Formats: sequence, structure tokens, C-alpha cells
Amino acid sequence: MCGIIAAASNRNVGKLLVQGLHKMEYRGYDSAGIALHQKDQIAHLRTLGKVKLLEEKMIAEKPKSKLGIAHTRWATHGKPNQVNAHPHKDQSGNIVLVHNGIIENYDPIKKFLRSKKVKFKSETDTEVLVQLIGYFFNKGKLNFEQSVRAALQRVDGAYGIVVLNKKEPDVMIAARRGSPLVLGIKDKEFFIGSDISPIIKHTQQIIYLEDAQMAIIDGDDYKITSINEDVSLPKKVEKIDFKIDDYDKGKFKYFMHKEIHEQIDTIRNTITGRTKKDSIMLHGLLDYWPEIKQADKIFITACGTSWHAGLIGKNLIERFAEVPVHVEYASEFRYNKTLVDNNSIVIAISQSGETADTLAAIKKANDYGAITVGICNVPGSSVSRETNCGIFTRCGHEVGVASTKAFTAQISILYLLALKLADSNDTMSKKAIKEHLDYDEGIKKIKNILNKENEIKKIALKYKNANDFLYLGRGLNFPVALEGALKLKEISYIHAEGYPAAEMKHGPIALVDKDMPNVFIVPKDKTYEKIISNIEEIKSRKGKIIIVTDSKDKILKDLANDLIYVPKTNHYMFCVLATIALQLFAYYIAVGKKLNVDRPRNLAKSVTVE
Ligand code: G6P
Repeated sequence: MCGIIAAASNRNVGKLLVQGLHKMEYRGYDSAGIALHQKDQIAHLRTLGKVKLLEEKMIAEKPKSKLGIAHTRWATHGKPNQVNAHPHKDQSGNIVLVHNGIIENYDPIKKFLRSKKVKFKSETDTEVLVQLIGYFFNKGKLNFEQSVRAALQRVDGAYGIVVLNKKEPDVMIAARRGSPLVLGIKDKEFFIGSDISPIIKHTQQIIYLEDAQMAIIDGDDYKITSINEDVSLPKKVEKIDFKIDDYDKGKFKYFMHKEIHEQIDTIRNTITGRTKKDSIMLHGLLDYWPEIKQADKIFITACGTSWHAGLIGKNLIERFAEVPVHVEYASEFRYNKTLVDNNSIVIAISQSGETADTLAAIKKANDYGAITVGICNVPGSSVSRETNCGIFTRCGHEVGVASTKAFTAQISILYLLALKLADSNDTMSKKAIKEHLDYDEGIKKIKNILNKENEIKKIALKYKNANDFLYLGRGLNFPVALEGALKLKEISYIHAEGYPAAEMKHGPIALVDKDMPNVFIVPKDKTYEKIISNIEEIKSRKGKIIIVTDSKDKILKDLANDLIYVPKTNHYMFCVLATIALQLFAYYIAVGKKLNVDRPRNLAKSVTVE
């Protein structure tokens, strides 16, 4: 979604704000803007397109300021253009604001403000909020803080905002409901970000603002208060330990490529310290383990790639621990009739920990009295705070919009959880569990796939002009097929569908012709013979066949137009290795099409609106 960075300092903040915007271009990138307080006026610059254009404007105009707000936009209301770009001002020019989120009741508020002779310039919901703050402030009865509070008490929806007031050059107000905001503190400098990526360079002392909280920066001082009432709240400063390296591409051209290559380490980091011979320690679940292990049904909810991890989790938990698992998109879970109650375990999976639908699903599960478990990559994120307990994937920051390392870490956690449940439920022998935990060799085999990068690249380039792809797999590899297809769609804009291999007969086969590539994921397991029949069915319709397999059987060579071999491991590692092969395949198709892999069109890394 949109990215926000704001700073108050004794030094000139213009440059650092633009640098911060560059760090957040992965969140939103159709336009960018900045507002800089300059004693009795506010410099206001906005550009359509990339942050670079804003930077050029800044270099030309050289505005100086010690207090400023900046924004990179991912359009929700109103097309991407300069007028709709943030920051937005109220009619008087006193109030200037950046916003991430959606104001749902903008229409009645706009009608009200129009009846008070307020004129709007943009098509955005955000302008309604800044005009409303300005309306209260300009009436003269409320001070700046009270005006922001009064306006926020009247809006519905999700927001993270930072607001400036022309009349108070040392004051900056931030507030959030739904959309995340973090406050960074360093001596007498303050930084506000929609995530930590733009501020980590400046400080590791962070306050994660909680829902309905406001932060008021006033010169060297600051306070945390509530949107609902004028109270002073505790300042919960945390030291974060993300490395600055996580935000650099190093030798790679794209973050996605770097993150694909990091997976040996990220999977290892995620598992290390959580296993010992034949036992699994998930400390984050300790307080609730007596209830979790007795669950007679588990719900998993998530969005996008995390939902695919959920499907793998279902397969593993049902297979190892014999507990039925229901997996539902968070956007559906939040509105569907739920069978969740106070005996239920609801696992929410989210890389960012800020996805609006996933948070709404957690809230619903909490309201129904369920025990909520978060599997999340970002300590301090909303998912980690709103769930009763949880386990972190330890991937470091994931920047590429197309999720890669977070997915394989999520699978690793679900694997451990399934084994731990199996251990508690006595559905697996200690010996079998121990064998599964002997993962080191499997992880090393990731290297083997990464070494095949050039081979995979050659195959990918052959298919870069295809219009449609089918990805087909069975069992654990059906979600791998879904994820492979999603990666391709996200970064190469080629239509791709994932299906259970046998289900392809019930419709998708009608699409197959000589131009259509079909990617089959074929481990040598109990469905091997069946999937070969599925390949034959496509072959006889002249479809192109790409096979990802750990089998050297001649029949596969005869059937395939192209083969990607992954080394032999167990079921679980096969799906990780196949996933990585498909990540590279999608990556090289997109690179072959000269697309910007880290900034796919229309997508956002973290979807903080409904
Ligand atoms: C967005 C991203 C996807 C991601 C999904 C869920 O759509 O583009 O890559 O899988 O959100 O995100 P989460 O952070 O909750 O895992």
C-alpha cells in the first residue's frame, strides 16, 4: 500500500525523506509527494510517477526544512495523477496530511463539508479527512491536537496519518487505526514510518503505535495519546534488531532475486533452536499449548501466498497429527458464517502482519473466543500483537512484492507445528519424528537448485511469450502449483492457473493447445503414476510440458519438452525445492520480458485496506 515517512530533526530533513520514500517504493509507486514546514509556510511538492521525479524536483528547488512528511501512493480512490498525490491540504492551506488506508464514510463527510462551502480539488478520500481537520481547526475553538482528534472520531475505515499545521512549525501529529505506523526516536530526532524500512537507517528505538493511538511530536518532546480521549499513554519503546543489510540488494539486481537466494539461511534461521533430536520447542505457543494440542479442529486463515502456505499446513497437520483443518481466505472468513467458538484454534498466517483482511479475521476469531495463533514475519506487527500467541518466521525484511522466502519459512513453521501436534497426539512415532527433524541435508539441497539457475533461466526464456500457463500438482504440491502460478502472474503478467493435476480434466483442459505450457510438479510418490496419466492427457492435446521432478525416469524425459530436476529428499523438502525452482522460473520469465520484478504493476507488498 502507500508508504509514509515523516521526520522532525535539527538538521535538514528533505533528503532523508526522499531516501525514505525510495526505501518504500515497493509499497506504492504511482505518485509521490512531500510537504516541508518552513516557519510560516509549508513547501508542497508532488509528482506523478516514480520517487526519482520528486527527487529531481527537490534537487531543483532545494527546499530547506526541519520538519516534513512524505508519501508514495498506491491509488485506491481517484486515478494516479499529481492532484490526487499526497500530501493533501485543506482549503485554507493550514493543514497538510499524508494518509495510508481508506476512509469509508468519505461521501457523507464530503457532502457535509460542501454544505459548509469547502471546495475539493482531488478525487481522494484522503482530502475529505484533511478538510475535516481543517474545518475544526479553522473554526478556532479547538487546538491542533483537538481538531485532529475530533475529525478522526468522525471517520470510519482504516488509516495511518501524519499531519502538519502551518501555524505550529515544531508540531507533527501521527495517528493510526487499522493501518500501521511506527515512531522512531533518536535523541531529539523523531521519525515516523508506515513500516520500519525508511527509518531503520536512523534509529533502532521504535514505538509501534497501537490501534486508536496518536503520537504528538512537539519540538524535543513527544507524547502518546488516544484518538478517543485526551489521556497520556505509556511510551513503549522497543529496540529492534533488523539489520540494515535486509534493505540492500547487495550483488543482486532485484530484491526478489536476493530473497530467493536467501532461503537456505531463512529456512535454517526459522527452524534453528526450535528442534532438539526428537522434540520440537515452539516457545511462543507454550502458554496455550494445553488447549492447542487438544483441538479437534483447526482453522487457518490468510491471504495470497500466505494462504497457499496455509493449504500446505492443512495437508501436513492432517497427515501427521490427524486433526481436521479448515483453510479459508481471510477476506471470506471475516464475513462468512463461522463455526469458530471458544474451543477453536485459529491460525493466522501473514508475512507482513499488517494485511487488513487477516487482521479482521483475527478480530472475528478473538470475538468468538477462539485461541488465535499468529505465524508472522514481523515482530511488533499487528498480527503479532492481536493474536493470543504465535511463532515468528525469521526471514528478516522481505522487500520483493512477490513473496518468496516468507513462504518457505511459513511452510517450515507449519511443518514443525504439524510434527509437534503429532508428537502430542501420539499419531507418529518418536523415530518417525526424529527422521523428519533430520532436515539439514534437505536444506543443503536448496543450493543444488540455486546452482541450476542458468538451466532454469534458459527454459524460462523459451516460454516468455506464452499467454497462458497451467500449473498442476497433487497433494502437497497442489498449493505449490497455486504458488508457482501466482508468482508468474504477479511479476510477468502472464495468465496462469494452478490446479490439482487430475481436476484439470474438468474444465481447464479445454484451454490446452500447442501454444500452452503446462508445468507439472511430479515427485516420485504414491501419485506418481496418476500424474503421468494426467501428463499424457495434456500431451495428446499437443500442450507443451514442463516437468519439475526428483525422478530420472525415462518416461518423464519422453513426455517433457523441458525438465527441471530437483534433488531427492522427503515430501516436505520436495515441495520447498520445487517452489524455489518455480520462483526462479517466474523470475526469469519476468526478467526476460524486461519487467521490474520488485515493482509489479498494480500490486502492493502489504495490503492494509479491505
Ligand atoms: C499482498 C502481497 C502478497 C501477499 C499478500 C498477503 O497481496 O502482494 O505477496 O502474499 O499480500 O500478505 P501477508 O503479508 O499477509 O502475508
